[in-house]
Amino acid sequence: MAIEQFQYIRSLQAYEGREVTIKGWVSNKRDSKGLVFLIMRDGSGFAQCVVDAAKVSEEQFEAAKRLTMESSVCLTGTVVKDERQVGGYEIQVSAVEIIQIAQEYPIAKKEHGVEFLVENRHLWLRSRKQWAMMRVRNRVIFAIHSFFQQNDFLQMDAPIFTGNACEGTSTLFETDFYGRPAYLSQSGQLYGEALAMAHGKIYTFGPTFRAEKSKTRRHLSEFWMIEPEMAFYNLDMNMDLIEQFLKYVVDDVITHCASELETLERNTAFLRNAVTQKFPRIHYDDAVAMIRGEKEVDGKNSIKLLEADLEGIKLRIAEIAKEIAEREAKIEGGSLKQGEINFNKNKIDTLKNESKELEERAGNIPQWLESARNFQHGNDFGGSDETVLTRLFSCPIMVYNWPAAVKAFYMKRDPNDPRYVKGVDVLAPEGYGEIVGGAEREDNYEMLLERIQHEQLPVEAFDWYLDLRKYGTVPHAGFGLGLERMVMWISGGQHIREAIPFPRFYGRLEP
Ligand code: 4AD
Ligand code: MG
Repeated sequence: MAIEQFQYIRSLQAYEGREVTIKGWVSNKRDSKGLVFLIMRDGSGFAQCVVDAAKVSEEQFEAAKRLTMESSVCLTGTVVKDERQVGGYEIQVSAVEIIQIAQEYPIAKKEHGVEFLVENRHLWLRSRKQWAMMRVRNRVIFAIHSFFQQNDFLQMDAPIFTGNACEGTSTLFETDFYGRPAYLSQSGQLYGEALAMAHGKIYTFGPTFRAEKSKTRRHLSEFWMIEPEMAFYNLDMNMDLIEQFLKYVVDDVITHCASELETLERNTAFLRNAVTQKFPRIHYDDAVAMIRGEKEVDGKNSIKLLEADLEGIKLRIAEIAKEIAEREAKIEGGSLKQGEINFNKNKIDTLKNESKELEERAGNIPQWLESARNFQHGNDFGGSDETVLTRLFSCPIMVYNWPAAVKAFYMKRDPNDPRYVKGVDVLAPEGYGEIVGGAEREDNYEMLLERIQHEQLPVEAFDWYLDLRKYGTVPHAGFGLGLERMVMWISGGQHIREAIPFPRFYGRLEP
């Protein structure tokens, strides 16, 4: 594909010792006597480019000096290997051609509040970690398609305008469809079931919408979901597929996005476990006992772990306070040089931030303990219950057979114990919570109709869905993976809004 007459930073390796032209933006700049150091980004990567007054014309050198952050520029120069630099290569510039001198860039190097960054999402996307996370997202998507295509699944699309509430009526976004009320789809599943009866194994991959009227780290109002649906699969086969699928995607991303994960400072130990360890499959009843601390896992008790966490955090907070006091005393002592004073001040700021985060965590733990100790059998898991439970394991877990009352109408009753349905949730480790929800579907017409009526859903809207149980009904199953939850877990992100280019959540419609 020789469309471009310039090169990309990602492929500098192939040009060692040769001349290249790159087009990009200045992500950082440092001047010293007779030298301008530019950290350039071109979308494909970051590289240091050095402009030496002795090697370019005076006019060119002046141009380099005028460059501001995020100015757009075309540079020509020679590629030199330099292990110490980002990406391992440096460009020694011979020509500078300014495209635009950027106005003062609002995102400076100093720490910004996250609100400010979200407000400037259209620009924040350019910063290094956000850039790396979007590349991870791209690879996750690619791996998902590869897995399903290699395993003979067809990708099929479900509509976005729909008359059906798939996942409960409380989170529906209502809209106007030529004078009729319609909803933005919460899930492509019901359509996926029809498609599986036509094609056997399919997956949908599309945007889904839920009015979640609260701000949490895990919820978006618009997110992307991957929903495979398989004819002639039961719950066990569904769980086998989920496990193979997640292992494949994680393995693919850690192989192909090693440098991105490094940029994100992601500790990949738990990701590697997800590839190599078998995911524990836990009956809901056992999971409840584990949350309450009545059942231990390899000698680990949820309540004792939380108490130990709290102790550890308190100790660390005390340590930090001591270190801050020591550094402040040094500064006041008056014998430090300016550089040393700045160094200590920076350290103090970092320590104060760490302490603030720890205090927040310590503040939550008593509530978590309370909620874990008093967890009522029959309830759905809250975010903290998921964290308490997954803390006992070092890879994702699958909790199956849920009380019918807390799960969707379409899940198949367990014939051995009809208080339960054949649903499964996959919970990621490290506090990331539910990433997959799935189930074997109710394939009996009467049972399904009864569930729809029981949930007081409008039966007419489900006529077509009930048809699937009249004409050659078969056992079938499927699941939904939340793309942003997966990206957030793999990247080790703090908040789900960073896992999608332009997040939509309660109170956020721009940019
Ligand atoms: O568990 P959920 O609600 O299941 C379904 O929608 C099924 N119809 C899927 C199926 O069986 N075909 O959602 C599936 C996944 C969750 O596990 C979570 O990863 C993600 O979708 N998810 C969200 N992600 C971001 N923001 C939200 N508000 C989400 N709600 C669910
Ligand atoms: Mg769910």
